[in-house]
Amino acid sequence: MGGGRSETSALTGTGGGRGTATIQNSQRSNACCFCWCCCCSSNEDDLSFSFLFLSTKPSLEEIRQWSQSFDKLMRNPAGRNVFREFLRTEYSEENMLFWLACEDLKQEINKSAIEEKARSIYEDYISILSPREVSLDARVREVINRKMQEPTPHTFEDAQLQIYTLMHRDSYPRFLSSNIYKSLIHSGSRTPSES
Ligand SMILES: *[C@@H]1O[C@H](CO)[C@@H](O)[C@H](O)[C@H]1NC(C)=O
Repeated sequence: MGGGRSETSALTGTGGGRGTATIQNSQRSNACCFCWCCCCSSNEDDLSFSFLFLSTKPSLEEIRQWSQSFDKLMRNPAGRNVFREFLRTEYSEENMLFWLACEDLKQEINKSAIEEKARSIYEDYISILSPREVSLDARVREVINRKMQEPTPHTFEDAQLQIYTLMHRDSYPRFLSSNIYKSLIHSGSRTPSES
């Protein structure tokens, strides 16, 4: 079961704050990709750039821990951010976006906001009409379709777990051997005076 999706979904993905990064990359002569993190991952500047969106740069210790378990990676905001950049290179960023949207929904207590968020998650990631549809089995789909009649913060829990498992099994091993992760370890192991 591949996590990959159409190119369109990755390129039109919800950049939210990423606009600048994309524009800067498109000005480069490097036409190999739209995603500044993948083709330029050996470049130290671009890696630091990736952390402009975070309040603190992760320590080498943190970065190393991401390889110990998928849970450790996903519990760390910087880890999720880097993994998401990696998923973008594999055209399966929607898996992470869906997972994050579900986390957000689980925090919601306002009933009408729950309904609104659930509908928008459904439209964006469950509907077969969506370019960002995530890969779910028929049983889980059926449960969601039933629960959507009266959405709760837990409507997508089975689906969220299924996508978590998919990312863990499918993308996580590739992430650990990717240039993105390797250069992080590499740049993190230098002393600041060297950079
Ligand atoms: C609940 O959410 C709705 C829709 O998002 C909003 O209009 C309303 O003000 C919210 N109510 C409360 C009590 O926060």
